[in-house]
Amino acid sequence: MYLIVALRAFWLFIPAYIANPSAVVFGGLAPIDFGKKFVDGRRILGDGKTYSGLIGGGLAGVFFGMIQMAISHPWDPIEHFGFGGLQRAIYIMLALSFGALLGDMLGSFIKRRLGVERGERFPGLDQYDLVLGAFLLTILVDKRWVFDNYIANNFAGLLTIIILTPLLHKLVNIIGYKSGLKNVPW
Ligand code: CTP
Ligand code: MG
Repeated sequence: MYLIVALRAFWLFIPAYIANPSAVVFGGLAPIDFGKKFVDGRRILGDGKTYSGLIGGGLAGVFFGMIQMAISHPWDPIEHFGFGGLQRAIYIMLALSFGALLGDMLGSFIKRRLGVERGERFPGLDQYDLVLGAFLLTILVDKRWVFDNYIANNFAGLLTIIILTPLLHKLVNIIGYKSGLKNVPW
């Protein structure tokens, strides 16, 4: 029972997990803060947060979600393993994917305020900023869905994400480093 809840929680969170590494692929064009500095004299977000990363990464997460819809459709044509019908699913995927990237931006904002340079690691925040952003935006869009999949069953879904996220983060960053997409393995 809990295994099914955990598997579903992971499956449904994939658009959020896809968005951030995809931002690395699409990123590099036009910094979101336009190169501007905050009142403390440091960059607002830094060169690691770009519009191309935000838009490209966000759409990549939704695109992958659509692939998940297609995969689940023959098995579960109404509920799509938890995403629901097409309209509901699109809202949820947009929220998960762009929420993850907005959370990542918030993480960078906090890092810059603490004097942590772009690309420097900040354990905890680097891993969980996307989770926070994805959940907050998705709660705004469809709180019933978040409750059913992540809060019900004694928080088993949420716990799954909390445990899996740092492991996936490490794995994806090592792949990004080895393949030459990232300069640092974090
Ligand atoms: N990226 C982007 N736009 C985003 C998010 C990420 O262009 N909205 C790209 C950038 O090239 C960035 C890379 O993905 O350098 C890795 O993302 P991340 O680790 O989040 O950024 P960092 O460079 O580590 O910067 P920060 O310290 O601000 O997190
Ligand atoms: Mg980083």
